[in-house]
Amino acid sequence: MKNKKKRSIKMDTMVIHDGYDANQFQGSLTPPIFQTSTFTFESAEQGERRFAGDEDGYIYSRLGNPTVRILEERMAQLENGEAALAFGSGMAAVSAVLIALTKASDHIICSQGIYGCTFGLLSMMKEKYHIHTDFTPMETEEQIRSLVRPETALIYVETPINPTMKLVDLELVVNVAKEYDIPVVVDNTFSSPYLQQPLTIGCDIVIHSATKYIGGHGDVVAGLVVGPKDFLDEVSVTTQKDVGGIISPFDAWLLLRGLKTLPVRLDRHCSNARKITEMLKEHPMVSKVYYPGDPDHPDYPITKKQMKQGGGLVSFEIKGDKQDAQKFLNMLNFIPIAVSLGDAETLIQHPATMTHAVVPEESRLKMGITDQLIRLSVGLEAWEDICDDLKQALDELAKMKNPAY
Ligand SMILES: Cc1ncc(COP(=O)(O)O)c(C=O)c1O
Repeated sequence: MKNKKKRSIKMDTMVIHDGYDANQFQGSLTPPIFQTSTFTFESAEQGERRFAGDEDGYIYSRLGNPTVRILEERMAQLENGEAALAFGSGMAAVSAVLIALTKASDHIICSQGIYGCTFGLLSMMKEKYHIHTDFTPMETEEQIRSLVRPETALIYVETPINPTMKLVDLELVVNVAKEYDIPVVVDNTFSSPYLQQPLTIGCDIVIHSATKYIGGHGDVVAGLVVGPKDFLDEVSVTTQKDVGGIISPFDAWLLLRGLKTLPVRLDRHCSNARKITEMLKEHPMVSKVYYPGDPDHPDYPITKKQMKQGGGLVSFEIKGDKQDAQKFLNMLNFIPIAVSLGDAETLIQHPATMTHAVVPEESRLKMGITDQLIRLSVGLEAWEDICDDLKQALDELAKMKNPAY
């Protein structure tokens, strides 16, 4: 591994080189794909030593694979963590961490507003294992402190929060967590390590749906966890090995390829998102726009504090009801209606009936997910074209509601 000068090189270089030494792979410029399920032993004794942990080396791809290992080492460097583990989906990563950190009847403190399936998992854990989760906006230390119990096993944070783009001040959360020695887990999917590095703020574990900005091309579903080596060693021989949500070598390779352009892509996602936010703020059919990089966003001071830029996600409320929101989506010309985010293509979706349909209406509204809310993952196309498409659909909607428009 050529990480000797790690601290002095920039992330733009790390995403291309970290974790990989071509000399170890016959000079291959790009990491080889070890498309194998298992690894042969030179002798029965070697097999015994590997299983006993007395000799380093691969055994079986669910327990480790060289292509996957390169990805894990690169991600650990990018997030400034000790180690990383890759999974077959973001939810495999989320569930591996939550299961590893909890036991029956434990307690979790969670940010108000999280990805729908994470909410679903927490609900299942409550039902099956009596693990209760308290949701809180985490606006003040006291809000969090008042929820801490002896059995609180972790604090779980998404920031920016999907899909309302509210922010949680990670330093504030860490302050309380350190008082009680509770681990802080951050889903960093929306930012990627290029925009936000929770471990450097004092959080303990970072999770990614690598399906999003890490992959960046809409062709892979994967997850990553970065954190302390001791913890990840334990996960790798328990919730990863025995539950089995591993990534394929080819998908790991796709992520390594995607990572190389992460900073370049993110800069463009962010600058496009800023311009689209400006257009949306001016449009008469739009009542609210939520973009963390907008100086008018109530959490903008937190953006400045912990994010490099505002990210590529913009949410907005249109004037009207659920049917109007759906009509608006149907009138778009080239922007695909699709969940997921972080791809080259701009994607648009209706959280109340799609990503967050699983969340009961009362909780959904508490999270700020109204029927009028639209989430836009701003892509890499020319910003003028994205704006034009959104604008023509908003104009059409305005005309339908008011023919004099
Ligand atoms: C913030 C966040 N976390 C986790 C996930 C789950 O990731 P995956 O779909 O890769 O399982 C998603 C998926 O959209 C997400 O948006």
